[in-house]
Formats: sequence, structure tokens, C-alpha cells
Amino acid sequence: MNDLTKPFKRLPVALIGTGSYVPERRLTNSDLEKMVDTSNEWIVERTGIEERRIAAPDEKTSDMATKAALRAIEAAGIQPEEIDLLIVSTITPDTFTPSTACYVQANIGAKNAAAFDISAACCGFLFALKTAVQYIGCGQAKTALIISSEKLSHIVNWEDRTTCVLFGDGAGAAVLRTGSGKENDSAVLASDIGSDGTLTDILKVPGGGTAIPTTEDNINEKLYTLAMRGNEVFRHAVQHMKDSALSLIERTGIKPEDIALVVPHQANLRIINAVTSRIGIPPERVFVNLQKYGNTSGAACAIALDEAVRAGRAKKGDIVLMVAFGAGLTWSSAAIRL
Ligand code: ACO
Repeated sequence: MNDLTKPFKRLPVALIGTGSYVPERRLTNSDLEKMVDTSNEWIVERTGIEERRIAAPDEKTSDMATKAALRAIEAAGIQPEEIDLLIVSTITPDTFTPSTACYVQANIGAKNAAAFDISAACCGFLFALKTAVQYIGCGQAKTALIISSEKLSHIVNWEDRTTCVLFGDGAGAAVLRTGSGKENDSAVLASDIGSDGTLTDILKVPGGGTAIPTTEDNINEKLYTLAMRGNEVFRHAVQHMKDSALSLIERTGIKPEDIALVVPHQANLRIINAVTSRIGIPPERVFVNLQKYGNTSGAACAIALDEAVRAGRAKKGDIVLMVAFGAGLTWSSAAIRL
């Protein structure tokens, strides 16, 4: 899906603050060795993951989202009342309804915002970004808070070694606002989202919705947990992340050497290396934190962006390329001048 061309003059959109939160509890690969038939060597060699964070039993998706949001609001230097659009992307909402965004709205006092959730799995943060950019670009919103928060530990089958070693919990957020349009000021330069609904079966939580309602049998069969054909997902991830990033680079006229940092979805180091080498970015310009957090779905890109900014790996004026892939299938990318 490309940006609209010229039905009206689009307003520029700036990214003015980021924030993130991860739960305290660490679950290491050696902890997992005691739970399923796996090894630290296998997990590190196949994924790059060393540990992941696990939310407390009473810690909700909205609690993590709220903490990340407050940090982003503080970094942006705004008041919660200034937010007029609040989007949460999650596949692990507090409740089916109301939306997790509404809980966060109440928690942070963003009383002037329209709040809603979106679902795009690991691409959720970049789908939220694209959505907010459209609202602000059309003049329908001025200040948007976008959050991705996931309690994946809640939907992981802890007896399935092929998935339980991959995922973790956490949240990331960003504040977007109508930009100045000046050449060196912050701007979302372009964004791309896409999906292929013919491949829903290779990565899904089959039960708990209307397709396979919650019954005692379905719970016993763990149909409310993530099921994935990892090999197939891997292949599609590399292809679509590469294609999405390259189409964005071509559309914006940015050259790979103009990109200060790539902040990719943090699912698997081999996927990240395959994608970034294909788009011509050396490893020192790629941000990786999956060794600490595993795959936190849509939150992964958002947490990585916040950590990159706070660590000084991405500075004001730098062009950052974000690229993600997830269930749906979905893919997405964004080029942002900080
Ligand atoms: N420990 C030890 N052995 C394991 C484990 C484990 N944790 N998991 C699988 N194995 C075994 C398999 O059983 C298999 O054994 P076999 O050869 O005897 O049958 C062997 O290891 C190889 O398994 P593969 O699945 O072929 O391993 P692969 O190299 O593909 O790695 C992985 C698996 C890590 C899941 C990889 O395919 C992957 O990262 N896929 C992409 C996942 C992803 O990116 N998801 C993103 C979206 S997530 C979202 O949207 C919420």
C-alpha cells in the first residue's frame, strides 16, 4: 500500500519521542533447558536469543503499554491532554473489548484522544505508525501516541520447544506530531505496509475466537497458543522484509549509505542478517537487541527504536530504516529522519 499521491496537500509528520518498558523477570536459555528438550547452543545458533523477559502474572498488556507510553510522553515533552490519537497494536489485549488503547487512555489521562487497537502481529508498531501518519498527514490529528505492547508469555505453549524459546514480553511507544516540513527536522519520510491473507495458517493462534471457540477440550489441546511453521515463516520473512525495504529505498531516493541505522523486527538474527545484507547495510549499522528480549512481536521494533535512541546509536537528523514481518502474513517498513 503506497502513500496517497496528491488528493490534497499532506502535512509533514515528525517523531518527537520514544519510550519502552520490559518486565523485570528474565527467563534464560538455561532456564528453558530445564523446561523443554532444548539447549542454549541450539537457541543461540538458530536465533541469537539468550534470554527474554516475562511479565508478572498480574501484569497486563495495558500496564506495560502505560509504562512505555509515559516514557515516550516524557521524552516528547508533551502533556497527555495534547494527544488526540492513541493507537495500541497488540495480539494479546487485556480484553477482547474494550480495546487495550482505552485502558491506556484512562491510565495516562489522555482524555482528548480517540483510542483504538489494531492487530498486525509483529508488524503492529509499523502499521500503527502508518495509520497515525495518515491521520496527521490529513490534518485529522495533531499529536498521536502509538504503542505496541505484548504479553506473549500468555499465549506461548511452554511445552512446545519449537516456539517457546522464541518469544518474550514488553512494550514500546512513540509520539508523532505534525512536523515543520523543514529539510533537517524530524520527518517520517515514507512507510510501506502489506499483507498476504492466503498464508494465515503458517503462523496463528487457532483457538479462542469465533473459528474455534473456547471450550474445555480446546483449552486442553492448547489451541489458544501460538502455532508456527517456522521454516516457512523464515523464508517469507526474508523475502518480504527485503522487498518492502528496497521499495521504500527506491521510492524515497534514499541510498543505503544515507541510512544511519536499520532497526529491524527482532525475531531471529539469521533473518536480520539475511535481510540487511541483501539491502546493502553492514552489521555495524543494524540495531540488534533480540539476545536480551527475544521476539516481542510488534513491540520488538518499538523497543529497539527507543533503545537505539537512548543509547545514542541513532541521533537527531539520522535516517533510520525500520522493517518488520509477522503473522497474517504482514510486512512493513518505514524511513524516519529523527
Ligand atoms: N531446541 C532444540 N531443537 C529444536 C528446537 C529447540 N528449541 N526447536 C526445533 N528444534 C529441532 C526441530 O525439531 C528439528 O529437528 P529435526 O531435524 O530432528 O526434525 C531441528 O531442530 C530443525 O528445526 P527447524 O524448524 O528446521 O529449525 P530452523 O533452523 O528453521 O529454526 C526457527 C527454527 C528458529 C523457528 C526459525 O525457523 C525461525 O526463526 N523462523 C521464523 C520465526 C519468525 O520470524 N517469526 C516472526 C513472526 S512471529 C509473530 O508474528 C508473532
